[in-house]
Amino acid sequence: MAATTNDPLAALATHALGFVRDGDVVGLGSGRAAGAFVHALAARVRAGLKVHGVPTSEETARLARELGIDLVGLEADIALTVDGADEVDGKLNLIKGHGGALVRERIVAAASERQVILITSDKLVEVLGGRGPLPVEVLPFAVPFCRRRLEDLGLKPTMRMQEERPFVTDNFNVIFDCAVGPIGDPAGLERAIRAIAGVIDTGLFLGTADRVVVADGDTIRELVRKRR
Ligand code: A5P
Repeated sequence: MAATTNDPLAALATHALGFVRDGDVVGLGSGRAAGAFVHALAARVRAGLKVHGVPTSEETARLARELGIDLVGLEADIALTVDGADEVDGKLNLIKGHGGALVRERIVAAASERQVILITSDKLVEVLGGRGPLPVEVLPFAVPFCRRRLEDLGLKPTMRMQEERPFVTDNFNVIFDCAVGPIGDPAGLERAIRAIAGVIDTGLFLGTADRVVVADGDTIRELVRKRR
């Protein structure tokens, strides 16, 4: 365990720098925790570290460019992705996507050798779904159909709005935030939702995280996924 500063996100970001090696291609997550990591990484880059970043959103891409991190696409495998999450259970399964970047986060995670998640301890849950909605990204053409099918699954989909208009993702899709409640069978729910034509992806990230770094009061601790 290490002592944190007053800013838990900055402390998480500094901790995560310990996983980065010179020459790495690094996946850059989206949201506040990932943004703190981009700031910390950029400071190392200014001090001479050589890395390339793969951003998971346009917002992260803008931030990384502004701060002087060279960006690349998915041409090369990614050594490590550092991202945030909205909920984390005891098996290190995640709900992501409250920031709306879940599709690219999924792709970058899949292209990464390791995914490290940075959270404050309030994101830890016994059972996924109890803390907030499950985001589901949907192709605009399919919205009425997907809404009905999500309702058939017992979910309560609400179209995410921004300034009184549907929120549009970086991929020009929309998001249904689904009130799910505690999810008894995350893998089954994931399969059922992804089987709906027009659903692009869900915020359930099962088995992607290798390590979750948790800021807990004034300490940092790591949860490491047990491999079978
Ligand atoms: C973005 O779509 C999300 O998956 C974020 O990673 C998640 O919402 C966590 O964001 P914060 O670090 O801002 O809480």
